[in-house]
Amino acid sequence: MNRYINAFFWCFIVYLFASIPTAVKSEMLMSEKIEELLRKGSCWGCHDTDEIRVGPSYRSISSKYKNANNQQIRILMEKVRYGGAGNWGVVPMVPISQLSSEELNDLVEWILVQQ
Ligand code: HEC
Repeated sequence: MNRYINAFFWCFIVYLFASIPTAVKSEMLMSEKIEELLRKGSCWGCHDTDEIRVGPSYRSISSKYKNANNQQIRILMEKVRYGGAGNWGVVPMVPISQLSSEELNDLVEWILVQQ
């Protein structure tokens, strides 16, 4: 009998650990809308929250543009829309044309609140 309880206990522990990434994700204030926009723009293909992929991580973008004013936010939105290189390295960001200005604004503002 004890063995079964033990097995159940370990399953529970494994379940707890398996659910941590979801908990971390919700800590990032990832609303469904943002999640959908990140998918729509294929942002995850080149960006990660913490790791450098083809482009910089959302967290490093956020710390580079801490206290960004409206003009800087507009410049970042244009960078996403039209693409470009030079702020992080020689690899260019591709133009992302499938998002509206409002959607770009939501995404850039979401990136800038990552810490
Ligand atoms: C094909 C790869 C790729 C995709 C897809 C991509 N990015 Fe990027 N992104 C990059 C690279 C590379 C850079 C660094 C550009 C530089 O050095 O100036 C970058 C930089 C950025 C920056 C910082 C710009 C700056 O001037 O500092 C933001 C903000 C950003 N990306 C947001 C997004 C968002 C939002 C999406 C999805 C809509 C997205 N990216 C999709 C590759 C990509």
